[in-house]
Amino acid sequence: MKLFRRSSAEALWRDEFPIHAADERYVNRRQFTKFLVLTSLAMFAGNVWILVRSWLRGTPAFPATVVARADEIGIGGVKLFSYPLPHDNCILIRTGPENYVAYSQKCTHLSCAVYYSQTANRLECPCHEGYFSVKDGSVLQGPPPRPLPRVILERRGEDLVAVGMEVHPEG
Ligand code: FES
Repeated sequence: MKLFRRSSAEALWRDEFPIHAADERYVNRRQFTKFLVLTSLAMFAGNVWILVRSWLRGTPAFPATVVARADEIGIGGVKLFSYPLPHDNCILIRTGPENYVAYSQKCTHLSCAVYYSQTANRLECPCHEGYFSVKDGSVLQGPPPRPLPRVILERRGEDLVAVGMEVHPEG
């Protein structure tokens, strides 16, 4: 029978904590794989939830809503309102005695609020100098990829009524 003597403190340490570096790496790899699988499952569940929610919501409804009286703003004046939901900010512009246009106020680049510049006669986004045409909401300059969604207005007596949204096909 052979007897071994411990030659150093390191050998004692190895006896008390018998973990090998190779095993340690294996455990880490396994934990990493577990993390990847759980993250993928969480992302999958999130996507399923978004899909189900969009099915349940269906197409957005655009109720007829009075947004202003025709004589409420002067020529070149603006009024801010919400449509179709309370957090959907829009801007109404009176461009002539009987002409009104309205757009979503959310820039199609990174969603900053656009405002009307009467001197330049355009809608301007202050974040990255994106400019939009007042006539049709198309992009005149800057990084916005799409025109502004347009609010469809109807004149009913003295009321201006929003009845829908015209969104660019790519929007
Ligand atoms: S957010 Fe409007 S131009 Fe960038």
